[in-house]
Amino acid sequence: MNIAVIGMGYVGITTALLFCKLKYKVVGVDTNASKLEQLQKGRLPLYEPGLEELLNRHLTQHTIAFTSDIEQAVKTCDIIFITVGTPSKADGFTDLRYIKEVAGSIGRYQNAYKIVVMKSTVPVGTSEKVREWVIENQSQPFSVDVVCNPEFLREGMALYDALHPDRIIIGAERAEAAEKIKYLYTSIASPKLITRLRTAELIKYTANAFLALKISYINEIGRLCDAHGVDVGDVADGIGMDQRIGRAFLNAGIGWGGSCFPKDIASLMHMFEQKNIKPDILPAVQRVNETQVTYYIQRLEKLLGGVQGKNISVLGIAFKPNTDDIREAPAMKVIQKLHQKGAYLKVYDPVVFKHRQLQLPAMVCTKVEEAFEESDCIFLLTEWDSFVQMNWEQYLPLMKTPMIMDGRNALDGHALRQIGYMYYGIGKNE
Ligand code: NAD
Ligand code: UGA
Repeated sequence: MNIAVIGMGYVGITTALLFCKLKYKVVGVDTNASKLEQLQKGRLPLYEPGLEELLNRHLTQHTIAFTSDIEQAVKTCDIIFITVGTPSKADGFTDLRYIKEVAGSIGRYQNAYKIVVMKSTVPVGTSEKVREWVIENQSQPFSVDVVCNPEFLREGMALYDALHPDRIIIGAERAEAAEKIKYLYTSIASPKLITRLRTAELIKYTANAFLALKISYINEIGRLCDAHGVDVGDVADGIGMDQRIGRAFLNAGIGWGGSCFPKDIASLMHMFEQKNIKPDILPAVQRVNETQVTYYIQRLEKLLGGVQGKNISVLGIAFKPNTDDIREAPAMKVIQKLHQKGAYLKVYDPVVFKHRQLQLPAMVCTKVEEAFEESDCIFLLTEWDSFVQMNWEQYLPLMKTPMIMDGRNALDGHALRQIGYMYYGIGKNE
């Protein structure tokens, strides 16, 4: 059985390599020539631990190939995974143009029965539309099944999550199609749930929104902790011991970002609106996340007596550690807001600037110590291990004002205070 994976981003590359590892022959398709060139040379066009090694192994074994020729991929593969992006439009609606384009090509070049698998995150009802888009482009009638197999991997952990998913969801309208996709994952021991198509689509959004909800909830509680001198981490530990709640995704901080939570929550809200149902919880989840950045900046202004003319250094610009992804990263919002308020900004990230050239109203440091020099405040916004574990004491004398604002509650505040820093987190006032 040959597999095509269309869209070589975080999800597509991981999916393609996962199926290589599970002993299938895979062809990866993309429209981006420079991405394809890098992949063919064994270089990962993005930062994701563990994937480059696997890529090189399968290139050597000739079990993976990359092409822009979608016609050939469709004609030679029985199963076609769609992993293209589904970004938000300005009005919050999901932009399905890449999905529609790929579905059209599949129909146009179809030469036999195919199973099209939706791995991209798509609003309820889209997989049914994909089947229509395929059929309306066919030159002659071929049968086609569309299956929805949403992806739950986290960036920075993509390979591990693909190999050890908590569950595999397979939505289909025909049991035979669902069974064929389930069979692909035989050697992965995770529980597998077969559902209707629409159910699978909705499971994906409901899961992401629930995770974002947990974070916004603990961030709101963090504000109350600040007012009462309570440690929000202890509160999270205490409630997390209840198995019905769980400790995961209760780390308070600057808030959630990334390529998925913001767009998926916006898209889920649109799904409600389209059916004239008013969502109450989702707008609150969004609101807490938006005001969290303001909450930190107001705190900083109070502590520094205003930020105008102050030297503020941001540590970490990725939306979370172990990725070079800066889509909807809280650090980007912080930098913009502090710049508007007249602060002088420096920024250091151990990975992002090696992969991306960014236009920022901040000086980009090439070494972490440059960020400390003459700084009035270090603002930690991505909890990279290298920051958590570094020797903070050696950099203290470089600062103008030895102040740390920990936007991720990731550092040991007690130890930092002992060596002379003024340390502030959220809900961490001791
Ligand atoms: P991405 O932006 O990293 O990659 C998408 C790729 O699709 C790009 O390389 C682009 O060039 C390619 N593409 C666009 N149109 C194409 C076409 N017509 N033919 C071939 N290739 C085309 O996207 P991503 O982050 O991998 O996300 C993909 C989907 O998976 C989205 O729906 C997202 O919501 C979902 N998802 C993402 C993650 C994640 O962690 N990034 C996790 C779970 C689900
Ligand atoms: C998230 C989900 O965890 C994945 O299951 C899902 O597949 C993916 O979205 C997707 O659909 O794209 P990801 O965005 O890669 O994965 O990263 P997360 O680890 O979920 O973190 C998201 C954001 O929440 C980050 O900004 C992170 O810093 C923040 N976060 C996370 C917190 O602020 N507190 C926490 O306790 C956990």
